[in-house]
Amino acid sequence: MVGVRVIAHRGASASWPEHTRAAYLQALSDGADGLECDVHLTADGVAVCWHDDTVDRTSDGTGPVHAHTLAELRALDVLRGAVPPPAWGGPRDQVLTLAELVGLALDAGRPVTLVIELKHPAPYGFAAERAVLDILADAGFHDGRLGSDGRVTVSLMSFHPGALRELARLGAPAHCLMPLLDAAEVAELVAHGVDAGVAAALVGDAVALADEVGGVGPSVAYLAAHPDRVTRWVAAGRVVRVWTVSTAADVEACLALGVTEVTTDDPARTAGLLR
Ligand code: G3P
Ligand code: CA
Repeated sequence: MVGVRVIAHRGASASWPEHTRAAYLQALSDGADGLECDVHLTADGVAVCWHDDTVDRTSDGTGPVHAHTLAELRALDVLRGAVPPPAWGGPRDQVLTLAELVGLALDAGRPVTLVIELKHPAPYGFAAERAVLDILADAGFHDGRLGSDGRVTVSLMSFHPGALRELARLGAPAHCLMPLLDAAEVAELVAHGVDAGVAAALVGDAVALADEVGGVGPSVAYLAAHPDRVTRWVAAGRVVRVWTVSTAADVEACLALGVTEVTTDDPARTAGLLR
């Protein structure tokens, strides 16, 4: 797309409701270099592309994602009035399983980075990590790539260092793994009730991981709070994938520090700003 790689956050989620088939097809049509998704398990154990723990914000349903079967999720209204082109599927085609998103990436006909975020705490421990790797294995996952020509590159991200360590233990290559970092760090964890010592250890673990794996995913706020760390990662040749890049000022901040990838709700507009 441009020198800095552009990853569509929950699909082209500025254009269509997040995580829908329409949002991902729009992202591919916009020329995004990659597709980002969050993954939860349904009541019947299917990995689906969904951000929140519950369905309340993004559908007409209520309750935890994991309390719904895939069929029940597909029956929810996730379009909320949006009307995608008929070729992009009807209302019941918009909830995507991770396997279906893998299919969209493979069918794109060009190199695509598939970015999968594992959320924690999860009520089912590390079952989502196992499910994600099973789905990737079914699609021919080899050395971090999918497809007969390896044109889909996989990146597995989490705020939770334990999730990345579990993925590594299950066989995911280190170069596919990426810790996510946010600015508030220890203070935010403590505000959420995490013991201060545990919080410090978790954050330190994530920062240390950045040097061991395939890159690091800081937020825009983290960039402002720790430009020194970002500069060091860039100088060391790490992939630095910043989220969520929305404004011209965000783009400027990324360019100033030499980051290599941005995650954005609006890949077409952000690519324009990067140019
Ligand atoms: O790309 C990382 C970013 O997606 C993390 O935040 O809340 O949008 O999943 P969130
Ligand atoms: Ca995410």
